[in-house]
Amino acid sequence: MSSPMKITRKNILDIKKMKSLGEKITMLTAYDFPMASILDESDIDIILVGDSLGNVVLGYNSTLPVTMDDMVRHTQAVARGVQKAMIVADMPFLSYQVSSESALANAGRFLKEADAQAVKLEGGREHAEIVHKMTYAGIPVMAHLGLTPQSVNQLGGYKVQGKNEDAAETIIRDAKILEEAGAFSLVLECVPEKLAQDITAALSIPTIGIGAGVHCDGQVLVVNDMLGISDRVTPKFVKKYAHLNQDIKDAVKQYIADVKTGAFPDAEHSFR
Ligand code: KIV
Repeated sequence: MSSPMKITRKNILDIKKMKSLGEKITMLTAYDFPMASILDESDIDIILVGDSLGNVVLGYNSTLPVTMDDMVRHTQAVARGVQKAMIVADMPFLSYQVSSESALANAGRFLKEADAQAVKLEGGREHAEIVHKMTYAGIPVMAHLGLTPQSVNQLGGYKVQGKNEDAAETIIRDAKILEEAGAFSLVLECVPEKLAQDITAALSIPTIGIGAGVHCDGQVLVVNDMLGISDRVTPKFVKKYAHLNQDIKDAVKQYIADVKTGAFPDAEHSFR
């Protein structure tokens, strides 16, 4: 009998252990093979194939139009470039809200067809049952509370969540319910720093923040935002570690000038 291939990627046990060791978890999004390879070679812990795909790659102005087929195709491309990081795939709008059966089948596609190790879904206690069912079926779930972009129409815009006592209490309660249902980690998006700190202390699973302050167990950013690839207006919590939009424009302008003047291709880039 042939032995199973050695699994070299991080898994949920590695990620949970990082919380107990007090080691910060790093997560970035990726949507294609080249970016996933670069992130993996840079030793990122988790790569999220986010449904922010809709905004930063497909050119939509929200995540709502993103389909399961879009997500599966991009997760497959990411997975081909990753040896070490854990891969989490985002469940797009209406892929898990319609029925438990379709939610399970859709989540399963990411593991069966796209080589992801876990899925992420947005929302609170209303999804506890499906989180439990997925976990029971062997599909690890990363939960997502606070600003949940798929509910932008319900929330009335992209705003900081959990600002008053009642709203904060609801988020804390949802976090505990999702942990009990089996979620292995929790993304907290756009909530006050103190609330994220309290939730992080109240849970045994790791929290991963985006616009949620420094006290979370880890951090996530949209890679196109932190590299300055998009020139879209980025939220206050995005730190730009590079300005690739400008760098790419400079390179393309130089190429155009070289072609127009005949400076490219020169002898070095031509065959004799
Ligand atoms: O879709 C996404 O990129 C996300 C992150 C912002 C957490 O959900």
